[in-house]
Amino acid sequence: MELKGCIFDLDGVIVDTAKYHFLAWKRLADELGFEFTEENNEALKGVSRMASLEILLSVGGIKKSTAEKELLATRKNNWYVEFISKMTPEEILPGSVELLRRLRSVGIHTAIGSASKNAGMILDRIGISQLFDVIVDGHKIAHAKPDPEVFLKGAEELGIAPSCCVVFEDAVAGVEAALAGGMKCVGIGDKNRLSKADLVVPDLTDITIEKLRKL
Ligand code: G6P
Ligand code: MG
Repeated sequence: MELKGCIFDLDGVIVDTAKYHFLAWKRLADELGFEFTEENNEALKGVSRMASLEILLSVGGIKKSTAEKELLATRKNNWYVEFISKMTPEEILPGSVELLRRLRSVGIHTAIGSASKNAGMILDRIGISQLFDVIVDGHKIAHAKPDPEVFLKGAEELGIAPSCCVVFEDAVAGVEAALAGGMKCVGIGDKNRLSKADLVVPDLTDITIEKLRKL
């Protein structure tokens, strides 16, 4: 492919905030009186806050009104923000900064494409906002992954055709979003779970520009 832009999901690709999302959702489930496991949590990865709450409530077999759901989502988010407000640059996942610098040094543009409304805060805490030309987060989009909106908006803001972009994703919904947007996708994590991706790697350490151009 003709590689011009790389779009990175944030949670689970650049930082392991999935563990904080899990702890906050689990605390909510505990309060509501049911068990919520790490396996249950897989289905929430890449999914918007309200859609995640719907999945959580269905795991517990619980029905709530719209107003109650708003309160529960805010409760969860307050706990989550407590965790991420303490994040440091040491929590940046291996290979991320090196890859971003290498891409930019050869003129390949970089973007964040995240469903999170907390993406700005996380990037501030870990101090790498300057390594991205464009940041598309949960405030800028109406449709959650697997809808391709977040990545298409990233490509549009970069001024690059989707076919010249590679997306890095750890969530099944995110891989589907990238492919639906006509982009190549590198899955970060488990080969079986992310089998639809064009390439799956455990983390960003072994990614080279040559490998990306061959996608
Ligand atoms: C990311 C995470 C999801 C999270 C979503 C919304 O996509 O992978 O687990 O639910 O962002 O995050 P927010 O910080 O806005 O609640
Ligand atoms: Mg993710």
